[in-house]
Amino acid sequence: MKLAVVRERRDAEKRVAASPDTVKKLIGLGFELTVEKGAGQGASILDSEFVEAGAKIADTIDDTIADAEVIFSVQGLEAGQLASVKNGAIQLSALNPFAERERLDAYAKAGLTAFAMEFVPRITRAQSMDILSSQSNLAGYKAVLDAASHYGRGMPMMMTAAGTVAPAKVMVMGAGVAGLQAIATAKRLGAIVSATDVRPVAKEQVESLGGKFVMVEDEETAAAETSGGYAREMSDEYKVKQAALISETLAKQDIAITTALIPGRPAPMLITEEMVKSMKPGSVIVDLAVEAGGNCELSKPGEIVEINGVTIVGYRNVPSRLAADASVLFAKNLLNFITPHVKDGVLTVDYEDEIISESLVTKDGAVVHSRLLEG
Ligand code: NAI
Repeated sequence: MKLAVVRERRDAEKRVAASPDTVKKLIGLGFELTVEKGAGQGASILDSEFVEAGAKIADTIDDTIADAEVIFSVQGLEAGQLASVKNGAIQLSALNPFAERERLDAYAKAGLTAFAMEFVPRITRAQSMDILSSQSNLAGYKAVLDAASHYGRGMPMMMTAAGTVAPAKVMVMGAGVAGLQAIATAKRLGAIVSATDVRPVAKEQVESLGGKFVMVEDEETAAAETSGGYAREMSDEYKVKQAALISETLAKQDIAITTALIPGRPAPMLITEEMVKSMKPGSVIVDLAVEAGGNCELSKPGEIVEINGVTIVGYRNVPSRLAADASVLFAKNLLNFITPHVKDGVLTVDYEDEIISESLVTKDGAVVHSRLLEG
């Protein structure tokens, strides 16, 4: 049973889908590991560490994936990298399935059995396999550090002989995994933190971290959360009320961290150009949703924009900015996903398992996921 770990090639991607620890554990399960040369470099893992853990190093991507029954990758193979894929090989990776639908057709054609780790259901048994949680948590932390580094003032209150430095006021929009970590991080740095969300359950979570919760509460919010725990897109009427609340709150903030996402839809637009212009010069917005269309009208993917003295940070792939930690957690998520399907050194995937069926996107030459076949 050969398991291949490929080197990531996309811009701004420094992560790797295995760590020396997971390599050892995968070998313990009965896999033979081949890691592509330099795969761990961006995450500060040397080829020699993978070798020490028991892996072989292959020079090219084709040598890495040839004959592999399982392929681990962070972003998934590209359509042009499938020539050496063995028919029926299994790939575990993030796939951005809605936005990159064409790649899945190429996978189907190549006979790849691909799993989109983003689709792993949010059930208790799957928590240790959840890449969205493991990576968003780090992104929320890093967003606050990025904001602090672009903010020309301090975060905590400092009382000095020369005078008092006021604490920064931070507003977090979207109190899911990334948002809650952003709240906790900003609090640790000494900021005064408020947060908003459309899901009423977020209130208690925000308050337990010492943040102040502000939200528009009406009859619609009771149904704002899907059975999967995600947010729905809200009505136009709600959006108008929410915009008024955000507008009023934002003008008093120094930093805004936006993390709001709706699965399979563009990110909700929460900060308009007008709202940016109402902020004080020196304020900072970090838009973690920038790659999904952005929560701020003026954010640009991969850019830092300045408007009227307000800095809008739009880093792509924020988890990769903490590549060493992000890789270790991502690698563990993949290990935990595959482990239950290996018995006595043999990989037998249970396609009836809910976690498998909900994350399987291509199999036997076809795209099979219902959410990708609708419309
Ligand atoms: P996400 O990344 O899809 O969205 C981020 C946040 O943005 C969410 O809290 C969402 O409600 C909010 N949002 C969406 N539209 C908004 C709008 N118009 N205005 C303001 N906020 C808006 O969500 P994430 O972080 O993946 O978490 C979703 C939920 O799943 C959370 O309740 C989380 O605690 C839960 N969860 C459960 C797990 C489990 O039970 N295994 C594992 C991980 C998360």
